[in-house]
Amino acid sequence: MRLRIIFASVLGLFSIISVRAETWAEIQKTKTLRLATDGTFSPFNFHKGTELTGFEVELAEAVATKLGLKFSWKVYPFDSLLIGLSQNRFDLVAASHGVTAERQKAVDFTIPHYCSGVAIMSKEASLSTLDALKGKNVAIQVGTIFVPRLVAVPGIKNVRTLPRDTDCLQALLAGRVDAWVSDVFVGKAAAKAQPDAKLFVSAPLLIEKIAMAVQKGNDGLRSHVDGALRELVADGTYLKLSLKYFGEDISCK
Ligand code: ARG
Repeated sequence: MRLRIIFASVLGLFSIISVRAETWAEIQKTKTLRLATDGTFSPFNFHKGTELTGFEVELAEAVATKLGLKFSWKVYPFDSLLIGLSQNRFDLVAASHGVTAERQKAVDFTIPHYCSGVAIMSKEASLSTLDALKGKNVAIQVGTIFVPRLVAVPGIKNVRTLPRDTDCLQALLAGRVDAWVSDVFVGKAAAKAQPDAKLFVSAPLLIEKIAMAVQKGNDGLRSHVDGALRELVADGTYLKLSLKYFGEDISCK
């Protein structure tokens, strides 16, 4: 009985907070694609002064333009982006979400816009494998796939989950943790931006497919975004952006 009440209230809550997405036809009427990201995951999405930019920011904007739409951005904390999507606060989230079965229960993903690896950043070169993290303090961003990946590693002394990935970097720079686990390109960019800190970035340990997200069942929008992404690859825009930010092609091979 009690279980049934809990179950019913959870369902009730879900129906209150989940608001139907704009269909493709509705988006075309407003002529605007409502985009969202967190703006703290350089070089994928970040602020340059007050301007939001980055590889996937520019790519999502190019998607909107390809679809004949204007765009607007909303900046939300990373761990509330997919919830915001289910509340119809925006149409498309471009925030480096790895495609996982867990997330696919809540949202739908476009075709991946890049593939990347999980890496360990540290001041100690020897901390370059998951095994080496035994007995160490490690910082990771809350709500990321790094959390389940790290929890699966036995013997880590302490896994500190912090709100933003940049908080993890700061914790590492200040010596509050021994290592920071994040995306390999994010780690490389941080190491380059802070040469004095002499950060080591491990080789990519696990490769993940990264995609943009739409509200579950919003097939009209998803298929149009997929089409636009394919066209951006075909017309060279994708490669140009990838070379601009990474000096290499980071598409999934
Ligand atoms: N790729 C990782 C994940 O899917 C990290 C994403 C963090 N993204 C961000 N915008 N801060 O969980």
